[in-house]
Amino acid sequence: MIHLKIDHSKINNFVSESEINAFQSKIDKSYEALLKKTGKGNDFLGWVTLPSEIDDALLSSIEADAREISQSAELYVVIGIGGSYLGARAVIEALSHNFAAFRKDGKFPVVIYAGQNISEDYMADLLEILNQRDYALTVISKSGTTTEPAVAFRILKNHLENKYGKENARKRIIAITDKERGALKTLADMEGYKTYVVPDDVGGRYSVLTPVGLLPIAVAGFNIRKLVEGAVAMQNFLAKSSNIADNPASEYAAVRNALLQKGKTTEIMVNYQPNLFYITEWWKQLYGESEGKENKGIFPAGVGFTTDLHSMGQYIQEGIRNIFETVLSIEKPKHNIEVPLDSDNLDGLNFIAGKRMNEVNRMAEIGTMLAHVDGEVPNIKISLPEMNEYNLGELIYFYEFACGLSGYVLDVNPFDQPGVEAYKKNMFALLGKPGFEKETESIKKRL
Ligand code: PA5
Repeated sequence: MIHLKIDHSKINNFVSESEINAFQSKIDKSYEALLKKTGKGNDFLGWVTLPSEIDDALLSSIEADAREISQSAELYVVIGIGGSYLGARAVIEALSHNFAAFRKDGKFPVVIYAGQNISEDYMADLLEILNQRDYALTVISKSGTTTEPAVAFRILKNHLENKYGKENARKRIIAITDKERGALKTLADMEGYKTYVVPDDVGGRYSVLTPVGLLPIAVAGFNIRKLVEGAVAMQNFLAKSSNIADNPASEYAAVRNALLQKGKTTEIMVNYQPNLFYITEWWKQLYGESEGKENKGIFPAGVGFTTDLHSMGQYIQEGIRNIFETVLSIEKPKHNIEVPLDSDNLDGLNFIAGKRMNEVNRMAEIGTMLAHVDGEVPNIKISLPEMNEYNLGELIYFYEFACGLSGYVLDVNPFDQPGVEAYKKNMFALLGKPGFEKETESIKKRL
């Protein structure tokens, strides 16, 4: 059995069960195309069977590297962007202490990130911190040519070599990249860095269960075997049947496409736990980059409640009615804190004195869901009993599989991202990259 549950009962005012079930035949075709690898982008379907194919030797090697890094580094810099960044950060932050950077008893390095932007001030601040602390770094880029991580790696490689000397710096660098092609692979071989491979048939945003995610997650001190176990459990469960009634990924894919058909073009992923922020960011990339093409796709947005009820809550309740929400709900918190009694009761809160904060949070969740449904915002609920590695493994594979299905239902290729090239072309033209002379000339006329 799996732990993840999905409930779409709060969309029934907007979409009927028969309208959802009408997607069954498209779901069946999409399901078969995923499992038999016959659909669009089928050379990038390695992630479908990946969890059950991860071998013990790979996990042991990652764990050994993670132990070594923990012994020599207080900080661990992960360089990467998009699919080479968000999955690791999503899992690490979901499992971490909310104030991990301030803990004095930390047994594991604090993970920090670079190469996910090109901000000079971000880099300057990072270098200032890295001057003061021991660190190791992992550079992740499947193509090896992505500008943001390549710029960051140039700078941090120099910094590390100046700090520790070339020979010792080499031992503090791991590269995760393509098996044989690409600039990073060439550089890693030349410099003698330890490397891990991003499999050819796994695209960036589906790569969190490869070394791309597993190494940083292990360095942060989390149990990657449990994460993989959870993903395998979900893989096996989803492989049993494509029925909307039995398969939560089929259900999610059918429900969101049925809502899209009714004009609900924006899906907001909602959470009530701040450390799920990057799970939402990872989900946004997964769904946005997979579905948003050919003028199609649901726009994926995210909010953290109750924080954002005091900002975006107004729009969600009363703005343009093209929204639905998916609430990722974690049933059991790790801790127990009660609201204290106050003899003055000036804030009038004694009626909740003695109640756990989580009960207040839970009532906020239920109350918000009903208010938003009343405001014509259909709600889907995805729940996990508690936050741990195993359940996160389930969740990751569930979201990936549902995304593949949903993209095929939309009849797009969920495994490419041609639209990402447009900004790169302009940026290279503006920066005068050799080979872009014509583009440089024409873009300058537009300024
Ligand atoms: O999902 C994707 O393929 C992208 O988001 C990539 O992961 C991202 O562009 C980074 O690419 P690379 O790993 O080649 O540096």
